[in-house]
Amino acid sequence: MKFRTLEWKSGALYLLDQRRLPNRVETVICRNPDQVSEAIRNLTVRGAPAIGVAAAYGMALAASDRSALPDAGGVLKSSRPTAVNLAWAVDRMLTKSAELNGAAPADLRAALEREAIAIHNEDAEMCKRIGEFGAPLLANGMSVLTHCNAGALATAGIGTALGVIYTAAAQGKKLHVYAGETRPVLQGARLTMWELMQEGIPATLVTDSTVASLFAAGKIDAVIVGADRIARNGDVANKIGTYNIAVLAAHHGVPFYVAAPRSTFDDKIATGADIPIEERSATEVTEIGGQRLAPQNAVVYSPAFDVTPSQLITAISSDTGVELGGRS
Ligand code: MRU
Repeated sequence: MKFRTLEWKSGALYLLDQRRLPNRVETVICRNPDQVSEAIRNLTVRGAPAIGVAAAYGMALAASDRSALPDAGGVLKSSRPTAVNLAWAVDRMLTKSAELNGAAPADLRAALEREAIAIHNEDAEMCKRIGEFGAPLLANGMSVLTHCNAGALATAGIGTALGVIYTAAAQGKKLHVYAGETRPVLQGARLTMWELMQEGIPATLVTDSTVASLFAAGKIDAVIVGADRIARNGDVANKIGTYNIAVLAAHHGVPFYVAAPRSTFDDKIATGADIPIEERSATEVTEIGGQRLAPQNAVVYSPAFDVTPSQLITAISSDTGVELGGRS
């Protein structure tokens, strides 16, 4: 990729500031776990796998004081509740620190830094495998709809849904991507379009409300999206609006694919009904770029994610293979 979403340099976490893209390419530097937590909360870094990797580095930054690790973990976990990768990464760092009970502070710090780097590298590797398993789902000449950003900006590698597209394109398949803008904070318009244009993948931006008419016109051959959490029964939480698209895809007989690493599967959750759904601040809906659109004091409901039931999912491509969904 032509950019780095996250980088660990000289004991600090460098994040590409996704709030500013595509107009400004800037970096935010985090030197303590509170700064990492704030960067996750305010969407400087976003996307389930990327916030997991960021949280792992947040724990490494807390390691100079062993007794502070559980609290730092709690703060990091609470920064965004839906993507399970965040809790998964924090718990893995806490397990590593427990294994090092009695280690000297410098040894604990070094070991937690190594563990965070391992989580980072493993995520990049998982993206590669998701792409390899998923690429056969996309045939030459297809037009593919995606939602939000499940690309390199959302992971430590080539992405999940976009990783499948990049891998298929690298195999010589000619694909065209429709990117839904993804209200309210426009990850599709700002981030997916920026990524795809940099990578030379032909892409067209559409408003979220255009999608139904694209299906009706027969312009979409497949849908591929990422996931924030996958329940045991195969229900998938992803960016708000994903469920709408899944209903449309089923109605029009178009396959609906999900791409996600194993770190997004939550074995503790039986069905999508148990997945906690984050609510975002009203200003993300009432304002765009700081410009007020809705009347002052307008009442807003803004869930960041919805749940697509397994019956609407054709297949899930993960780093261990392609599993059929309930619509297969
Ligand atoms: O609110 P965001 O931008 O973090 O939402 C991201 C998504 O919904 C992605 O589709 C999901 O995290 C998968 S990213 C590989």
